[in-house]
Amino acid sequence: MFGKKKQKPQIDQEQLELIQNAQRRVKQKKRLYIHFVIFIIGALFLVLANTVLGIGEGFKIFELDWFVVAIFAWLFFFLYHVLNVFVLNKFMGKDWEKIQLDKLVEKQKTRIEKIKTELKKEAPLIAESQVYNEELVQKKSSNLTMIVAAGENNEIGKDNDLIWHLRDDLKRFKALTSGHHIIMGRKTFESFPKPLPNRTHIVISRQKDYQVPEGVIVVNSLEAAIEKAKNDSQPFIIGGGEIYKQAMPLANKIELTRVHSTFDADTFFPEVDKSIWKETANTFHTKDENHEYEFSFLTFERK
Ligand SMILES: NC(=O)c1ccc[n+]([C@@H]2O[C@H](COP(=O)([O-])OP(=O)(O)OC[C@H]3O[C@@H](n4cnc5c(N)ncnc54)[C@H](OP(=O)(O)O)[C@@H]3O)[C@@H](O)[C@H]2O)c1
Repeated sequence: MFGKKKQKPQIDQEQLELIQNAQRRVKQKKRLYIHFVIFIIGALFLVLANTVLGIGEGFKIFELDWFVVAIFAWLFFFLYHVLNVFVLNKFMGKDWEKIQLDKLVEKQKTRIEKIKTELKKEAPLIAESQVYNEELVQKKSSNLTMIVAAGENNEIGKDNDLIWHLRDDLKRFKALTSGHHIIMGRKTFESFPKPLPNRTHIVISRQKDYQVPEGVIVVNSLEAAIEKAKNDSQPFIIGGGEIYKQAMPLANKIELTRVHSTFDADTFFPEVDKSIWKETANTFHTKDENHEYEFSFLTFERK
């Protein structure tokens, strides 16, 4: 009673064009084949016409028998035909190419419009998250200070040890950092005989189970170290070279003891870029019986 309605096969326009092109292609090849057969028969006929029937006997073009010239001329056209079908693909024609190109351009336009709409939706979110990240870094590092002693060429250490002993510099380091969090790389931590008194040590290491004395905090990134010190009004980055380099973009103050000499070293402080940092304090200290080198206490603040 409710028999199925016979469905007509559905072929879209694109498929139809492909089929039509395939048919045209077959026709082209067929024509080429017929051309080839006619050429062979025709060439044979020309040879026979001259040699057997004596047509045009003795008639020469450029010192060649006329039928040889005729066969070569025909061969040339046949080869041109082959070239058109197999190499130049001219069978598709300029119109077909233009239609395909227009379609492609139309598709690209639609895609571009889609991307534009998506971008419009995402742009405020991206902007918001950028502002959020900037605020986060700003907040985290608002009082982050790097404290370091470096030679004239930014030398800071050799064989995991300091290169000099300057009593007043150590005193200043103690005065500034006491009561605060001090953030350091694993190697700097290992250069101490024992943890420094009256300071919270945060040691950065990639090792999963790095063992430390009680009270020392171990983290696996600089960001995590800053996060651990977030309740400290004045956390310090105390080195070494690897950590200073990573902290340079995050810190907003540098307490630099510039030792006025050059040293043999294997670890260095990054160059202080004067376009980013301005010097806000500079106190010179002469050489004396407790200080082998002249030095200056410099303070830099982010501009
Ligand atoms: N003159 C100064 O004021 C001063 C101050 C401090 C130090 N120093 C000198 O500096 C030298 C030590 O500096 P250094 O550059 O060789 O070593 P460092 O910065 O003290 O420590 C490097 C170690 O920190 C860990 N680390 C670094 N980046 C990390 C990251 N993004 N995530 C997780 N872990 C990370 C790695 O520990 P793991 O290998 O455990 O993964 C790495 O081997 C010594 O000679 C020391 O005396 C001088």
